[in-house]
Amino acid sequence: MQDLVLSGVKPTSIPHLGNYIGALKYWVELQHTYRCAFMIADLHAITVPQNPAELRARTIDTAAMYFAVGILPERCFVFVQSEVPQHAELGWILGTIAKMGEMERMTQFKDKSAKEGRERSGIGLFTYPALMAADILMYDTTAVPVGEDQLQHLELTRTLAQRFNTHFGPTFNVPEALIQKHGARIMSLAHPDRKMSKSDVAKNGTIFLDDDTDTIRHKISRAVTDSGSTITFDPIERPALANLMTIYHHMTGKTMPEIEQLFAGKGFGDFKKELAEVTINHLGPIRHRLLEFRKDPSELMTLLNKGRDQAQKLAEQKMTLVRDRVGLGRA
Ligand code: AMP
Ligand code: TRP
Repeated sequence: MQDLVLSGVKPTSIPHLGNYIGALKYWVELQHTYRCAFMIADLHAITVPQNPAELRARTIDTAAMYFAVGILPERCFVFVQSEVPQHAELGWILGTIAKMGEMERMTQFKDKSAKEGRERSGIGLFTYPALMAADILMYDTTAVPVGEDQLQHLELTRTLAQRFNTHFGPTFNVPEALIQKHGARIMSLAHPDRKMSKSDVAKNGTIFLDDDTDTIRHKISRAVTDSGSTITFDPIERPALANLMTIYHHMTGKTMPEIEQLFAGKGFGDFKKELAEVTINHLGPIRHRLLEFRKDPSELMTLLNKGRDQAQKLAEQKMTLVRDRVGLGRA
């Protein structure tokens, strides 16, 4: 079987630098080694309330961003989750073999349901991992690049695949997690103790991939730094600077010793100015392509139609087998 990598993000905001370094940039590398499928997880997005018009806009934007960062349509199929209804169907079926206890142990559910209170949380938030398992198992995915926060869901996916195979006969491949070797958690520029996130209340904490040059310069110039004055990498003692240096590393490919050497004898001011420039240089072409897709979405629509057709074809093949195994419908 040829290796297939599958991953996706929820279209709940414009992707930011954390998404890029932690996920999208890694996907772009993977496509040279694996056959790839990348999904816009809109069914997962609605597990918390969404404004319908905004959800649509973000779905298109997220797809545009996949291609803007360099996902190649000739190597990958990119599709919108809800346009392949087999996902919801398989999610339901996997939900019937998942156990309440397993689902209740999911830390993402615990965290997210704590906000509204358990009694008032949607059922979709609870069954979220069964749908994610469906996304993955549908295509005989062999490897799934995910951040740490999703590892528990992937472990459950493996459990469900094995359980299904044991009950109903060999049907699903049991996938592996793919962890980025030099993976990085990018922290907020304003609160270096928190993850960079779309929902950061600090306006300057998050760099969005469609931020213009002035905005990027402004946010980086405002970034919190630690005490001391030398540019040295010390994530424990000087986490704010280490975060900025990590961003520098990802924007340029330079190693930490190289960066330290480059800024020997220079201060935070010089470093931040340079960091802004390399970030602008790296993100500039991405933003440019994104704006082009927004201006004329016709090419994007063609790519998404192609991705949807390819995904539907594979998904229907798998579901024909699944329905047969489970005994659903007429022969
Ligand atoms: P989200 O939809 O924001 O939860 O994130 C989608 C993907 O981006 C996940 O796979 C995360 O691992 C990754 N990601 C999100 N925020 C960050 C961050 N601050 N640093 C690194 N990776 C991130
Ligand atoms: N749950 C993932 C997240 O929040 C998104 C996702 C949905 C996903 N389905 C997937 C990731 C399948 C990998 C594979 O980031």
